[in-house]
Amino acid sequence: MKFFLDTADLNEIEEACSWGVVAGVTTNPTLYAKIGGKLADFNTHIQRICELTDGPVSAEAVGTTREEIIREGEELAALAPNVVVKIPTMIEGLAATKALAAKDIPVNMTLCFSVPQAIMAARAGAAYISPFVGRFDDISEDGLAQLEDVVAAVASYDFDQSVEIIAASIRSAHHVTQSALMGADIATVPFGVLKKLVEHPLTDRGLASFEADWKKVVQA
Ligand code: E4P
Repeated sequence: MKFFLDTADLNEIEEACSWGVVAGVTTNPTLYAKIGGKLADFNTHIQRICELTDGPVSAEAVGTTREEIIREGEELAALAPNVVVKIPTMIEGLAATKALAAKDIPVNMTLCFSVPQAIMAARAGAAYISPFVGRFDDISEDGLAQLEDVVAAVASYDFDQSVEIIAASIRSAHHVTQSALMGADIATVPFGVLKKLVEHPLTDRGLASFEADWKKVVQA
């Protein structure tokens, strides 16, 4: 499984990319608003993320008609060669995905919450599909079970293009572990969760004992 970073924060992207584990970045309007992003700076900001990231960077189209989404998608794709246009799973989004995919512009279909939505996204030409886990948990449903169904269903068929499943709306290390075990291609992870993934209490204990023992060696 690959790790994407789910953020619009340049410092987080720079830091996590330096660890050598980040294969891409996903952003959305909420994440851009969270860092105090301004509309006028949006394109430049996406370009900066694309420069920092050695891999695909999802930038979301916010239009609601197919014409608006296609126009935005073309503008976003022109910003950098590694831009992927993120489009919500809805009828206008499917139509826009079909049109953009025909122009070889990669699409990440987002806000995916069911097996039929995922299969339709793949049929429309999406290169990436993002089933959301945490938002099911928010309404007391089993987001991981939903993800597992999508992973299994999409793996059962051949599509005209390659399709990768991005486990999205990831809130915990448990979500990441289970996504990996069920064979999700990618997990897009907030910086705080990514940082936690590298930690384990037994690693800390091992480090502390090495440190203590090394002092004895030096003193002997
Ligand atoms: C994915 O691409 C989305 O940006 C993200 O994972 C949404 O997560 P949330 O449900 O925590 O907002």
